[in-house]
Amino acid sequence: MELGSVTHFLKGKTILVTGATGFLGKIFVEKILRVQPDVKKLYLLLRASNPSSAAEYAQRWKDLFKVLRDKLGDDFGSFISKKVTAVIGDVSSENLGIKDVTMREKILEEIDIVTLLLAPSLMRDSILQCLLTQLGLLML
Ligand SMILES: NC(=O)c1ccc[n+]([C@@H]2O[C@H](COP(=O)([O-])OP(=O)(O)OC[C@H]3O[C@@H](n4cnc5c(N)ncnc54)[C@H](OP(=O)(O)O)[C@@H]3O)[C@@H](O)[C@H]2O)c1
Repeated sequence: MELGSVTHFLKGKTILVTGATGFLGKIFVEKILRVQPDVKKLYLLLRASNPSSAAEYAQRWKDLFKVLRDKLGDDFGSFISKKVTAVIGDVSSENLGIKDVTMREKILEEIDIVTLLLAPSLMRDSILQCLLTQLGLLML
């Protein structure tokens, strides 16, 4: 699949990102925001030991976000807050470990795409399997 068609596909989409603190996940988040700033929203499902806000996430990996920060200047903070929402959870727990029911329902209603940037064994018995069945799986 060509980059142009991927970026076009991602325009206006809402993505649930698992593994966003991992080696591949961090790069994925930065690249999506850089190549398709018109993505609607990225929900980052993060375990409790990780950043609890989009701003903290971007700050923790500030070197990675340097290109985007330089490009957006003063608008970087508001762009990240608008496009990225950090959600505390755990894929191996019931309901993805998202305790806030309103947030959980909002996410499940809004997402178009789920990314699995973590060990496949964690998906066993997870609600993620149902989501993949509902949404289909995009292989990039
Ligand atoms: N790295 C590569 O070159 C490479 C190549 C081919 C395939 N892969 C595969 O791609 C996947 C990701 O690789 P990676 O190198 O990015 O892995 P990684 O650096 O170990 O990252 C794993 C990610 O999964 C998260 N995670 C683990 N358990 C979780 C749970 N119960 N709930 C929510 N999040 C959880 C971790 O969060 P925490 O920060 O909370 O631990 C972290 O963000 C793996 O399946 C790997 O086998 C990797």
